[in-house]
Amino acid sequence: MQQKIVLVTGKGGVGKSSVAAGLALKEARKGRRVLLAELGERSYFSELLPSGPMEISYQAKAIESGLELVKWDGESCLKEYLFHYIPIRRVVDLFFENPVMKALVQAAPALKELAILGKATSGKRNVGPAFDYDVVVVDSYATGHFQALVRAPQGMAEAIGFGPMGEQSRSIERWICDPEFCQIVIVALPEELPVVEALELSESVQADLGQKVEFVLNKVWPKTWRAEDIQALGRLQSLEWPQGLSDFREVLAQSLGQQCQYLDQLSTRGRVHSLPWLLEPSSWGLLKSLSQQLEDL
Ligand SMILES: Nc1ncnc2c1ncn2[C@@H]1O[C@H](COP(=O)(O)OP(=O)(O)OP(=O)(O)O)[C@@H](O)[C@H]1O
Ligand SMILES: [Mg+2]
Repeated sequence: MQQKIVLVTGKGGVGKSSVAAGLALKEARKGRRVLLAELGERSYFSELLPSGPMEISYQAKAIESGLELVKWDGESCLKEYLFHYIPIRRVVDLFFENPVMKALVQAAPALKELAILGKATSGKRNVGPAFDYDVVVVDSYATGHFQALVRAPQGMAEAIGFGPMGEQSRSIERWICDPEFCQIVIVALPEELPVVEALELSESVQADLGQKVEFVLNKVWPKTWRAEDIQALGRLQSLEWPQGLSDFREVLAQSLGQQCQYLDQLSTRGRVHSLPWLLEPSSWGLLKSLSQQLEDL
């Protein structure tokens, strides 16, 4: 099987981590070797693993058969990149301990983002340690920071077009623009702001990477509930509706109508997968159930 990476993004709180984990669990169930990579400082999954709390760091840890979990931060990815060229740990550590270099790494736009995408594509580019997963699912940044992430290779290639940095930036860019290798999934809720943000992001991804995205509309009401049916209930004279319930019926009918509109709007720009709003008391149980619903993604 060809290696592939899936970058999961969307507005804050829409279910990016849940969808990323659901996708990773689905692939692992099929017998594939899967890496679920979290970006950022804090791990979302470390507290909800079925085996109890576990520290998630830069070294991948096996959490289920076929599934490993890792947390990538820009600095660790950059350290590994430098170590590839200067294979003396002390020299690399000294570089990062140097206050000028430290400030440069913090301030240089796109350097950490480039290092993260460098890590994600390292298997394809044969750079650094072995990276032989079948599927890498990245629980990525929310919309704005995600745009900065995927623009980093092109930006860096334009800024430093020469030497290994320019060469690697161009090669990372080529891989993330390849739809056979890199898939971009935007998660939204059936609400106005997340949908508008998802549509805008899909346009910018198309412009920056030439890639078509896939959408996940998360927490949708069951498809068998139709707005017309709910509204028709209100016209049944024989039913005496208490005020609270009749308000709820109106709100529900409206939400169902809007949900259909959002599905239509998103489907003009890419394939849309709906995920139901699941009532699952256990967090890991929820992720397992979501993975069953993501079969076609
Ligand atoms: N389909 C679903 N049904 C029920 N609950 C869900 C569903 N999807 C996500 N959730 C719950 O919604 C909350 C937010 O989800 P999640 O943490 O995955 O969002 P996120 O986009 O990663 O958030 P953040 O931007 O903070 O990283 C979590 O409590 C999660 O368990
Ligand atoms: Mg998250």
